[in-house]
Amino acid sequence: MCIFAYLNYHVPRTRREILEVLIKGLHRLEYRGYDSAGVGIDGGNAKEWETNSKNIHLIKQTGKVKALDEEIHRQQDVDLDVEFDVHLGIAHTRWATHGVPSPVNSHPQRSDKNNEFIVIHNGIITNYKDLKKFLESKGYEFESETDTETIAKLVKYMYDNRESDAITFATLVEQVTQQLEGAFALVFKSVHYPGEAVGSRRGGPLLIGVRSDHKLSTDHIPILYRSCDGFKQNSAVIEHTNRVIFLEDDDIAAVRDGRLSIHRIKRTAGDHPARAIQTLQMELQQIMKGNFSSFMQKEIFEQPESVVNTMRGRVNFENNTVILGGLKDHIKEIQRCRRLIMIACGTSYHAGVATRQVLEELTELPVMVELASDFLDRNTPVFRDDVCFFISQSGETADSLLALRYCKERGALTVGITNTVGSSISRETDCGVHINAGPEIGVASTKAYTSQFVALIMFALLMCDDRISVQPRRREIIQGLKVLPDLIKEVLSLDEEIQKLAAELYQQKSVLIMGRGYHYATCLEGALKIKEITYMHSEGILAGELKHGPLALVDKLMPCQNALQQVVARQGRPIVICDKEDYETIKNSSRTIKVPHSVDCLQGILSVIPLQLLSFHLAVLRGYDVDCPRNLAKSVTVE
Ligand code: UD1
Ligand code: BG6
Repeated sequence: MCIFAYLNYHVPRTRREILEVLIKGLHRLEYRGYDSAGVGIDGGNAKEWETNSKNIHLIKQTGKVKALDEEIHRQQDVDLDVEFDVHLGIAHTRWATHGVPSPVNSHPQRSDKNNEFIVIHNGIITNYKDLKKFLESKGYEFESETDTETIAKLVKYMYDNRESDAITFATLVEQVTQQLEGAFALVFKSVHYPGEAVGSRRGGPLLIGVRSDHKLSTDHIPILYRSCDGFKQNSAVIEHTNRVIFLEDDDIAAVRDGRLSIHRIKRTAGDHPARAIQTLQMELQQIMKGNFSSFMQKEIFEQPESVVNTMRGRVNFENNTVILGGLKDHIKEIQRCRRLIMIACGTSYHAGVATRQVLEELTELPVMVELASDFLDRNTPVFRDDVCFFISQSGETADSLLALRYCKERGALTVGITNTVGSSISRETDCGVHINAGPEIGVASTKAYTSQFVALIMFALLMCDDRISVQPRRREIIQGLKVLPDLIKEVLSLDEEIQKLAAELYQQKSVLIMGRGYHYATCLEGALKIKEITYMHSEGILAGELKHGPLALVDKLMPCQNALQQVVARQGRPIVICDKEDYETIKNSSRTIKVPHSVDCLQGILSVIPLQLLSFHLAVLRGYDVDCPRNLAKSVTVE
C-alpha cells in the first residue's frame, strides 16, 4: 500500500534510530489505511559487514504500526544499540489484495529463506501468475499468496543468472521491471549490494527525499540512458529531507556509495533529460492527499483510477470477454439458480439497486435487492437454489454479516462483493469478487460505490457470455466500460460549476432528488450522501411516485433535481442532471448539470458523481467535518 525507505550514508545511526525513522514514516502514512506492516533492516551487528557475513532481518506483523513497533521491541536477537555508518531500511504498510492480512503476506517480501533480496511494493502486478509459474518451474519456492513475492524471486533469478559479477543493482532491477505488467512503486534491498537502494515506479507515485550537510552540486539529476554506456554517474549526495525528486514512470533510481543516479532504458520523444530536486513546502501527508482537503474529496477524484483497478485483469476490451477469478468455479452453479438476492446496507445497498435492472436483463433471473436488517427482521424465506450476494465495502458490517450466516444456514450459495480482502464477509462467503478500489477512508462511501457498481456489471456480463442473442448488448456495455474512466474525468471537471451551485444551496433545509429507472439508485445514493455529511434533509424519490405523495413537498423554495414538469408547475426550482446529448431536457430546463453520455446501465456511475461533489461542497460550506460526520462510523460492526 505505502512504501517508505530510509538510507543513511556516512551519518552514523543506531539500529534503534533507524527503526524509529521507519516506524515514524509508517505512522505518517497510516491515514492511508492498511491492515498489516513490516520492516526490513540489516541484521547482525555492524562489524559483521566488514567480515562479510551479511544478513537482512525482517519483522512483520498483522494490524497497526503500533503492533509492529511492539513486535520489534519483543525481538530478543535484535541489538538496538548497534551503530551503522551506512544502512538502508525499508518499510511498508499493506492493504491486502493478494491473500489475507498475515505476517507472511506482509512486505517486505523476500527472494528466499536467506533474504538475499527483499522488496516493498505498492500496486498490483497483473502478470504475476505467469511469472510465478515460470519461477516455480526454475525451482523457486513461494511462501506467500502475494503478487509481490514474484518480484523478489525474479530479482534473485536475474542475479543467479547474471552474465557478469559486475552487474549493478540498478541493472538487475531494470531487467525485473521490464518483465512486470501492472502498476507499481518498488524499493529493493539486497545482501549482495549492502547500503544500496534501488527504486522504480510505473503508475504509482514514488519520490525521493534528499538531505545533505553539503550544498548539492546540482539541483538536477541527469537521466542515464541504457544506450549511453559509460556515462559518468555524477549526481548528488543523498540524505532525507523536504528536498525531493518525483520519479517518472519507468525511472530506475539507485543510490550507490551515497550517490543517486536515475536510469532509463531508452530515450523516448518528449522525455525530460533530468529530474529536478524540488523543495516541498508541504507535509508528506499532504503530498499523499494531494491538493485535496479531505479523504472524501480525494476518493471522489480517484474514481477514474479506482474503476480501472476494479476491471484490471478482468475485462478484456479487445475480445469483449470478462473473467472473474473469484467466481470461475461457481459460475455454472450460479447460472442454474432460481433467483439472485442482493443483500447490503447503506451505499452498498444502493449499488444493488443501481444494477438490478441490468442483472435482470442479462441473467433473466428474478433479482431481489434487500436491506440486510430488514431482510433479517422479515425472516425472509431463502432456499438452496438461491444465490445470495453480500455487498460491503468493509466486509464487516454486522447486519450484512448476520444475513450472510442466515443464508448459509439455509443452504444458499453466498457470494461476496467486498473491498477488503481478509474481511469477515470475504472469508465467510463461498466465493466472491474483490472490488480492488483501494482503501476508502472518508465515512461517506464514494469510490467503493462506483467500483461495486462496476463489479456487479462485470458479473452480469459474465452470466451471459455464452448467450448469442445478447452479444451485441454485451459488446456495447464492455465498450462503455472501456471509456468509463475518461468520462468520469469529464464529470469531475464540472467540480467548479458544482461548487458554485452548492454556494447557492447550502442554506436550504431540504433537497429532493428525483429520477426513475436506472437513475433511481443515483437519487437514493445522492440523498444519502447529502444526509450523511451536510445534515440537510434530503430524499431520493422515484419520479413515478412523485404524484402519489412527495409532490406536496414542492414549493418555490424547494431545490429539486429531475422529474421536471410537475415540479416546474408548482414553482419548484429544478436542477437537472442530464446526459449532455439530451437536447430536449436541456432546452426546457433553466439549470442543468450536463454529464457525458454512456450506455444506459452505466449512466448511473456518471450521474452520481455530481451528487457526491455537491454533498461534499455543501458540507464544506456548512462547516462540517466531511470525513467524520457526526453519529456515523465507517464500519458498523454492531446490529
Ligand atoms: C486474484 C487476486 C488479485 C489478482 C488476480 C490476478 C487475491 C485476493 N486476488 O483476483 O489481486 O489481480 O487474482 O489473477 O489474491 N472471495 C470471496 N468472497 C469475497 C471476495 C472474494 O470468497 O467477498 C474469494 C474469491 O472467490 C476468490 C478469492 O476470494 O477465491 C479472491 O477473489 P478476487 O480477489 O476477486 O479474485 P481474482 O479476481 O482472481
Ligand atoms: C454505514 C456507513 O454504516 O455502513 C455507510 O456509514 C456504508 O457509508 C454502510 O455504506 C455499509 O457499509 P459496508 O462497509 O458494508 O459497505
